[in-house]
Amino acid sequence: MTIKRYDRITPEGTKDLLFGECAARREITERIRTIFEEESYHEVITPGFEFYDVFSASEMYFPQESMYKAVDSRGRIMAARPDSTIPIARIKATRLKGCPLPVRLYYAQCVYRQNPVLRGHSNEMMQMGVELIGESGFRADMEALTLGVKVLSACQGEGYRLELGHVGIFNLLMERLDADEDKKNQIHEMMISKNYAGLSEKLDCFPESQTVEILKGLPRLFGGEEVFAQARALFDGYDRRLVEMCAYLEEIFRALRDTGLSEHLIVDFGLVNQADYYTSLAFQGYIPAIGEPVLSGGRYDNLLKNFGEDLPATGFGVNVDLLSADWMRRKEEKPRAEQKNSCLRIALTKGRLETKTTELFEKMGFDCTNLREKGRKLLLPIPGQNIEVVLAKAADVITYVEHGVCDMGIVGLDTIMEYGGTFYEVLDLGFGRCRFALAAPKGADMYSGYAEKRIASKYPKVTRAFFEEKQMDVQIIKIEGSVELAPLLSLVDGIVDLVETGTTLKENGLEVLEEIRSVSARLIVNEASMKMKKKEIDSLIEAMQKEVE
Ligand code: PRP
Repeated sequence: MTIKRYDRITPEGTKDLLFGECAARREITERIRTIFEEESYHEVITPGFEFYDVFSASEMYFPQESMYKAVDSRGRIMAARPDSTIPIARIKATRLKGCPLPVRLYYAQCVYRQNPVLRGHSNEMMQMGVELIGESGFRADMEALTLGVKVLSACQGEGYRLELGHVGIFNLLMERLDADEDKKNQIHEMMISKNYAGLSEKLDCFPESQTVEILKGLPRLFGGEEVFAQARALFDGYDRRLVEMCAYLEEIFRALRDTGLSEHLIVDFGLVNQADYYTSLAFQGYIPAIGEPVLSGGRYDNLLKNFGEDLPATGFGVNVDLLSADWMRRKEEKPRAEQKNSCLRIALTKGRLETKTTELFEKMGFDCTNLREKGRKLLLPIPGQNIEVVLAKAADVITYVEHGVCDMGIVGLDTIMEYGGTFYEVLDLGFGRCRFALAAPKGADMYSGYAEKRIASKYPKVTRAFFEEKQMDVQIIKIEGSVELAPLLSLVDGIVDLVETGTTLKENGLEVLEEIRSVSARLIVNEASMKMKKKEIDSLIEAMQKEVE
């Protein structure tokens, strides 16, 4: 028997770099290194592997599942570094303990994270970044931001955007909201994904208050300098600390603007992606045609405490791989970026949602001839609108939007629940309404007997989450379609599936045992597109919302 050997390929999410790719990385790293060293930052290199304990206190930022682990010769668990800031905090609190403050450190090294498979994510990422430890306040924040601007401008040129936010605002509001941890987590998730409708619905369960009103408005507070006036109006009369945080953010914004950066600056009061890590000012950098932030940073005044030193700190990291790829693409003058930047690309789920969306577009006055007479074409321009529609399978809509090759997408909440991903979920379109349910042959008792039940579903993740919530072990079998067949053929005891009219269940002698949740079509938007093409995207969302209502 021959044992399969993996000696000619690299592990998923990793790759070899050859020739021009190495040159691009070198070019980008050298440019950034020069900037860091000119500003008196000193390089440190931390081990590729550390004891898992270094990262375990920070598990909320890097979930256990996302870390690569190994066991050393004494049985101790080690983790490949998922991040460089945490090991640098360890260095500061140990080898650099007691040294004169502030300490300015920089790094250029890879980080390792296990991402969901087959989604085009890298599990090994080259990052560079700075940590300014032991100084707080305006001067230190401006130093980090100015360095971030220098990096973006040196690597990308003129098209970048720097986005500012203040995590303290959200944290304070959550402190003032009388909710349990579970609800707070859900609100946090919805704030991250700018899920306007979901957030409002969730917050409507709380008694009316200014806290609730501000939380509802927060994710929509993003854009240019005009946002500060809207924020001031919303925060008026609330806790003084909130007003002060807003004023501080504005002070930073103005100071940067006055250095000639006005067209690069944006602000987002809903920027809370790493609210557990950052404590106040947070920022991200975007460049055209890259669907995710290339730079991300902020103030983290609590992290050093984990290692026994109570020191304020700020810093940022840049994704060198993304900047290098962009660098190469621009050198080779590949047209993709230009083409994509010139129009809004919307991915549309083929089938039922496609028909409903076409009707919606027509109500909005769009000429949908290309959609109605598409033949086998998959890329369909909407005449006179500078919009291009892409027809794709549901899960692929998410993939295209997540990677930013499509700016927006229309997809069912069922697919979002099953596949997840990073994007904004901005509108419940109301159509495509159906529900997830647990169903079984009539009269069957799913909850009796000691034998483990078997459940068939096209949605294994949703099914697992449903039974985990019940603390019930079941064996899940993935079935690709007509799931109702599986219990009829006695392969399983029940199914978790979508029910619309209930006809399929009825005609096959099955009945709903439990409703899990209702779902409908959602409008999703790529994170970077939302910021880089705000005007076009906002007006399209508004037009859709009008028709949907
Ligand atoms: C969906 C779902 C059910 C059926 C429910 O399947 O998986 O089978 O529709 O609709 P009803 O309640 O109105 O009868 P779909 O038609 O998408 O086909 P598939 O099962 O082959 O995926």
